[in-house]
Amino acid sequence: MELMEYHKPVLLTETVDGLNVKPDGIYVDVTFGGGGHSKEILNRLGEEGRLVAFDQDEDSLVNQINDSRFLLINENFRYLKQFLKFNNVSKVDGILGDFGVSSHQFNVAERGFSTRFEAELDMRMNKKSVLLGF
Ligand SMILES: C[S@@+](CC[C@H](N)C(=O)[O-])C[C@H]1O[C@@H](n2cnc3c(N)ncnc32)[C@H](O)[C@@H]1O
Repeated sequence: MELMEYHKPVLLTETVDGLNVKPDGIYVDVTFGGGGHSKEILNRLGEEGRLVAFDQDEDSLVNQINDSRFLLINENFRYLKQFLKFNNVSKVDGILGDFGVSSHQFNVAERGFSTRFEAELDMRMNKKSVLLGF
């Protein structure tokens, strides 16, 4: 069985070009998802560079990147400042945000995002957050 791609970022090169990545810089990807943008940032970083990524959806953890320059935080990026401070980062060189829903969230019926499937409406990106009912 062919596995469905988690998420394919559009305008990948153009978006990361906009960050103007310095090899020894510190960057944040606040919407990690399938990790496409993060991988491209890591490709442009040197050994001293660092990348911190956030995604509140625990499903995105399957896309973890095994790289000592990389840290993935499974939290809402609203806590960015606290988590950066906790990890001894006081200044960053750039932040990338690819806001919206990942293809994965649309493609898995039980996530309740898609109108293509018969499934309960859910739409929580963080499955641990409280499910509001009517
Ligand atoms: C469009 S996808 C990003 C795709 C990603 N750039 C890639 O290359 O695969 C958006 C992702 O951001 C996450 N997300 C949305 N709002 C968030 C928030 N406030 N905090 C953390 N993650 C968030 C979603 O769970 C989703 O995985």
